[in-house]
Amino acid sequence: MLEVDPTILAKPEDDAYASSGYDTSTASLSSSIYQYVFENGRRYHSYYGTDKYLLPIDEKEQDRLDLHHEIMRLIWHKELHEAPLHQPHRILDIGTGTGIWAVDMADQYPMAQVIGTDLSPIQPNWVPANCQFQVDDAMMEWAFQSNSFDFIHARNLSSGVSSWDHLMSQMKRCTKPGGYVELCEMEIKCHCNDGSMKPDHGMKVYVDYLRESLEKIGRPPVDGRFMTKLLEGAGFEDVRAVKANQPVGPWAKGAKVKQVGAMALLQSTETIYESYGMALFTRVLGMDQEKVQEICDAARRDGRNKNYHVYCVYYRVYGRKPIA
Ligand SMILES: C[S@@+](CC[C@H](N)C(=O)[O-])C[C@H]1O[C@@H](n2cnc3c(N)ncnc32)[C@H](O)[C@@H]1O
Repeated sequence: MLEVDPTILAKPEDDAYASSGYDTSTASLSSSIYQYVFENGRRYHSYYGTDKYLLPIDEKEQDRLDLHHEIMRLIWHKELHEAPLHQPHRILDIGTGTGIWAVDMADQYPMAQVIGTDLSPIQPNWVPANCQFQVDDAMMEWAFQSNSFDFIHARNLSSGVSSWDHLMSQMKRCTKPGGYVELCEMEIKCHCNDGSMKPDHGMKVYVDYLRESLEKIGRPPVDGRFMTKLLEGAGFEDVRAVKANQPVGPWAKGAKVKQVGAMALLQSTETIYESYGMALFTRVLGMDQEKVQEICDAARRDGRNKNYHVYCVYYRVYGRKPIA
């Protein structure tokens, strides 16, 4: 339960936050050997087909992913994973994005080899010697040997998952007996405990469209219960789920959640709404670019209003592959 910081309510006539000033930098790459499509001012993946993944992969998005990684580090108490790993030798990150999690894992486990795979070659070249990246579609048969990884991780991959059964079967096959898998996803839903989020709140309207479009393409949003069932159904044991709240805006009480909220607000100015919504709402819901922009702007505007106390929930779910 997130408690509202009482000092934030002191001046209800101020309806917006000042910029919080967080920033990040990222080394970004693009490679001419891969094909892209440009749409509504953004660059999208197309090498494996334009319907595989509907978020952009351009530099702006890469900056957002790196900022998001810092938010994840904060809400998960700086822990890169939840599974109880013991001296892992081989670690796999599916849908690695800019590879920032894989690089951090390689630093944390210098004796391990860490591999990150993604549809797009957007990872940096200068990485620890025990870290490498491969272009691969997780929805196809994986080239990795069976029983070859101590830990397989996927974070915020769900919008690119057209078959969870396939993902689970590959994860299960490639995990060593006794090894772990872990999924981390945001529940695509706005939460509010004090009634300050009305039905026409810009973020709620946006998220409702997001759910509708993801359902339409057969990738309905997931939550902790769904992922727990997935892992149990795939035969993993000791499946555990943990959740963490991410307020949008520094309205919550406590220094850490305030920082998370400020960073989430910054992420919204770093185009998170357009990243998730532009292709989905235009391609799937048939909206034009102006309409999508209006919806994104309204979400951003209401997210910046300190009188609205909205938060999102993240889940981490992990399980162990049986020894026998
Ligand atoms: C929202 S980003 C998350 C990146 C990273 N996991 C993180 O948390 O920072 C999702 C990533 O998954 C990749 N992706 C989506 N569908 C995929 C697929 N079928 N196979 C491999 N990668 C995929 C995208 O290219 C993108 O880089």
